Amino acid sequence: SDDCNMENLKNSESCDPSSFLRHFRKSSATPVMLLRHIAQAMATEMQEGLDHPGERKLKMLPTYLECLPTGNERGLFYAIDLGGTNFRVLRVQLDGKEGRILKQESIQVPIPQEVMTGSSKDLFGFLAKTIVQFVSREADLGFECVALNQKRDIGFTFSFPVNQTKVNGGSINAWTKGFSISDGVGEDVVDQLEIALADMGSVNTKVVCLVNDTVGTLAQCRYWNDDAMVGVILGTGSNACYVERAAAISCWSSPPEADDLTVVNIEWGNFCSELLPRTFADEGLDADSLNPGQQEFEKMIGGMYLGEILRRVLLKMAEDTGLFGSEIPERLTKPFSLLTPHMSTMHGDDTSSLEVVGSVIEEAIGVKYTTLATRKVVYDVCDIIAERGARLSAAGIVGILTKINRCGDLMLSCLTTPNDTEVKKTVIAIDGSLYEKYPKFRNYMEDAMKEMLGEDYANNVTTTLSKDGSGVGAALLAAAISTELRLGDV
Ligand code: GLC
Repeated sequence: SDDCNMENLKNSESCDPSSFLRHFRKSSATPVMLLRHIAQAMATEMQEGLDHPGERKLKMLPTYLECLPTGNERGLFYAIDLGGTNFRVLRVQLDGKEGRILKQESIQVPIPQEVMTGSSKDLFGFLAKTIVQFVSREADLGFECVALNQKRDIGFTFSFPVNQTKVNGGSINAWTKGFSISDGVGEDVVDQLEIALADMGSVNTKVVCLVNDTVGTLAQCRYWNDDAMVGVILGTGSNACYVERAAAISCWSSPPEADDLTVVNIEWGNFCSELLPRTFADEGLDADSLNPGQQEFEKMIGGMYLGEILRRVLLKMAEDTGLFGSEIPERLTKPFSLLTPHMSTMHGDDTSSLEVVGSVIEEAIGVKYTTLATRKVVYDVCDIIAERGARLSAAGIVGILTKINRCGDLMLSCLTTPNDTEVKKTVIAIDGSLYEKYPKFRNYMEDAMKEMLGEDYANNVTTTLSKDGSGVGAALLAAAISTELRLGDV
């Protein structure tokens, strides 16, 4: 029968899996015209956010960066990276254009659950301790020594929405991605870290920039390639930044020259629009989340959420269509019992018997025997959710290209001189597990960009993996800033 109605599923009579699937596919659909409208809405909202700082859904956070890495940087620099389940500390030894990155080393430590949801003193104390330990081993490893009286420059990647007041300071305005620190909202993140470091005894460090992971990703790509204009994270969370004219930042009291460029952190995760094809699963997920009503776009794209959307859909199918037999699998009722890695593993199953799908269902949901038909349905649900997320991220990127006029017929970019009619190459730096480790997600995203932009134009836009940009990129930015300052001194 064809009696499932996605709008009114609660009241619907039970239906069979294939008609449920048909309805679910329809309500998740992202035809290219819809994507174009979403891209246009994103571009419009970006402008709104710039014109009304802090008052719109897109926060368009200024970074106050006045330079990006060029490849000429030299010396020893550090980066620290907080934004997911791990904390990382890195050092890089740079040797200008010829030698580039001579040496690099990092450590990564998991953040204990009690720290992720504890007080900010606990969090920053934990970070400081890790930094001090790592810095103290620099000489043993053959890195160029920093003179005793000289400070080590650190780039701090902090992947949350931060209201920056200067290039190396700002306060968090909301925790995202499952962090929930009981205090510290509104306090300067860099000050808190420096206090914690001082409490540990001085290690002679100085945070020279505070950046979002998207900004680190862009910076790392830019170090190698001048055409890098956009940084995107498709990981646990989802967000993007881009190169903008400094003059567009209305709250910058002493911007550099009018033509100078800077970087804006869009915080696109909080984009929301009637245009987004939301389903019952998105609504349920949002209502039960730590931040209901926020990060609507991120909740349809981010790796933290895709597996949970899948769980919600399968649970509903178990209830309404008896997908797993007459009983509802107990584990399927538990939030986050299915994670995005499960989903990507199942979706990557290219065997005709879908054995991998079967073993993930067994391992994660505890259902031992499934028919091929059931496994195919589960595979299709993964496909629908991933395809939607990937195509929405493509729409977001095209929205940015639209905003900076590097899209469609308007080739006269605001970032080029008026006489420069040559088509500019645009490189989009992307990092995150969905892009790096989920090939079907990445392919869907790239195909959607081609669909939206047309083959010809798509030839001028390149997406590239900027691996580890959130870490290395911040060290490169610290280096670029120190180099600028040194040049300024001359
Ligand atoms: C969340 C954060 C954002 C970050 C993104 C990717 O959306 O709010 O700052 O860039 O996750 O890590």
